[in-house]
Amino acid sequence: MLKVTADPDEQRGAALMAWWGGAGAAPVLKHDLGVILLERTSRDRSLAALVYEGSDDDATSLLCATAARLHLRQGGDAPSLKPLEDWFASLLNLSQTDEAWIVGCSTLARLLLSEQSAAVPLHGDLHHGNILDFGSRGWLAIDPKALWGERTADYAAMFLNPDLADPARPFAVDSGTFERRVRTVSSLAGLDSRRLLRWIQAWSGLSALWFLEGGGDPVVQRRIGELAARSLAQ
Ligand SMILES: Nc1ncnc2c1ncn2[C@@H]1O[C@H](COP(=O)(O)OP(=O)(O)O)[C@@H](O)[C@H]1O
Ligand SMILES: [Mg+2]
Repeated sequence: MLKVTADPDEQRGAALMAWWGGAGAAPVLKHDLGVILLERTSRDRSLAALVYEGSDDDATSLLCATAARLHLRQGGDAPSLKPLEDWFASLLNLSQTDEAWIVGCSTLARLLLSEQSAAVPLHGDLHHGNILDFGSRGWLAIDPKALWGERTADYAAMFLNPDLADPARPFAVDSGTFERRVRTVSSLAGLDSRRLLRWIQAWSGLSALWFLEGGGDPVVQRRIGELAARSLAQ
């Protein structure tokens, strides 16, 4: 699979894919600035399909297993990574928004970013569509945004999915599903559930802002942000 890109986030991602060396991420055959040649999987089973066929817990645990492998990699010549503070810049420096809940996410993001626990290389877009079935080698990540920060943040994007990829099939937005996922991820990843909820809320606000900038209506993000806020208020 050849991916060619001029996007700096994708270019950083390609370097990180190479650095991961096949441990939790698809193996890289060749890599140069803006170009990456990945081993291709021919399997067509997807994590989103698992979710829709009633195996959301399995999909969540596969996502957690991949995240854990990626976060384990250390040492060597780590590639250049974007700090979470920079990734959240548009949310931190809100100009004007009609959506009060996004202002709340901005305040929350500032707090979270100021008190991060140990930083690790982060995938930055870890959701059902960015982890592929590589058979006996497990489910491996593609398409990272190559960030640097607290590992809890990497578990937020999955809570918006697979709905963002297919809003016509609401799944993640169900309150029971959301609460079950929070319990599963906290337990499997060894995360404080309230800290996870705060990152989910902040991440929803950031994702919503990008949607609004593109002229979209962030229905999924608004709902997930609200579910996280509601759980935190309990
Ligand atoms: N190594 C691979 N093997 C098989 N399919 C792949 C591979 N890499 C990407 N794809 C396919 O291409 C799609 C888009 O790739 P991705 O890198 O996630 O780009 P995008 O930036 O468009 O999300 C994936 O969802 C998957 O279907
Ligand atoms: Mg992708």
